[in-house]
Amino acid sequence: MTDLTKLEAELSGRIAAAEDLAALEALRVAALGKSGSISELLKSLGRMTPDERRERGPQINGLRDRIAAAVAEKKAALDAAELDVRLASEHVDLTLPAPPERRGRVHPTMQVLDEMIAIFGEMGFSLAEGPDIEDDFHNFTALNFPPKHPARDMHDTFWLAPDERGERKLLRTHTSPVQVRVMQRTNEGVPAWVANGQAPPIRVIVPGRVYRSDSDATHTPMFHQMEGLVIDRAIHMGHLKWTLETFTRRFFETERVVTRFRPHHFPFTEPSCEMDVKCDRSGGAIKIGEGSDWLEILGGGMVHPNVLRNCGLDPETWQGFAFGLGIDRLGALKYGMPDLRDMFASDVRWLEHYGFSAFATPNPATGLS
Ligand code: DAH
Repeated sequence: MTDLTKLEAELSGRIAAAEDLAALEALRVAALGKSGSISELLKSLGRMTPDERRERGPQINGLRDRIAAAVAEKKAALDAAELDVRLASEHVDLTLPAPPERRGRVHPTMQVLDEMIAIFGEMGFSLAEGPDIEDDFHNFTALNFPPKHPARDMHDTFWLAPDERGERKLLRTHTSPVQVRVMQRTNEGVPAWVANGQAPPIRVIVPGRVYRSDSDATHTPMFHQMEGLVIDRAIHMGHLKWTLETFTRRFFETERVVTRFRPHHFPFTEPSCEMDVKCDRSGGAIKIGEGSDWLEILGGGMVHPNVLRNCGLDPETWQGFAFGLGIDRLGALKYGMPDLRDMFASDVRWLEHYGFSAFATPNPATGLS
């Protein structure tokens, strides 16, 4: 028996006898690893004469190939045996209760939005939407903001870089520009979902995201507003007052809501007002319908004749009222959320706590119950 046949017999025997993958791997390293017995033999070829090498080369290479094949074959057999053991021992108990399923929650803003849409929908309002990226005309000029007027700065506008024509678009600072898009009957070239101009009478609500460079417990750089617009003949402040009071009672689910209309200034309404609700702030949480404090909740007024004219409507024929409210802010008030910034921090723990079930349908008559 030559030294090679002896080595082969010994290695083959040990490979066949290997009991697990770790033992087989140790054997493979001992034979074929960097300083394994076969690798050393291969290295010795370099020190041989050409004649010796011609004889021994094929023998050593043949040995290496056969041992490598034997290792691979044994590995496949051990893998299969291990799988058999696992299949025999592991099983699924179908009688066990299923692990709890993590259900998504409806974000309070979307819940509150649904409630508002249901309430205004019952009053005969329809929905309109407009783009988040607006131009100066719709966001300011058509709404009667004088050029260079400080009111434009008051909105802490996020301006975009100028386009090729030098025009600077902006992230809309309020939902009021959609009033213009609804009243103007020249909306060619805008996407289909954007409010299309319509002839009066108009009765729309416009929910949407708005943006201002502002951040503290009661302000976030992005928030949600809802605009309301009614245009018809002989519309007056009384209609505005009834609409907003009715909405507020239904939204806060109490008849006891007391409101107050204070004179204010907005460029796009004349007269303009802010509406406050009576509330109780004594216990930390704000309670609507009790107490003797006032809380401002929205702005509104009669649509300014200049705005009607800018949108192609004759103020002698058409009048209207408009209002704007903060959806998140009213939601925070109704459901007691102390910091508006948490609303958009995307923390699932917050959402699980303050979120709503996707399966509860808001009922405008009874609220959520
Ligand atoms: N656009 C106003 C704002 O963001 C809110 C507002 C006030 C809207 C009065 C109106 C309105 O339509 O009539 O501050």
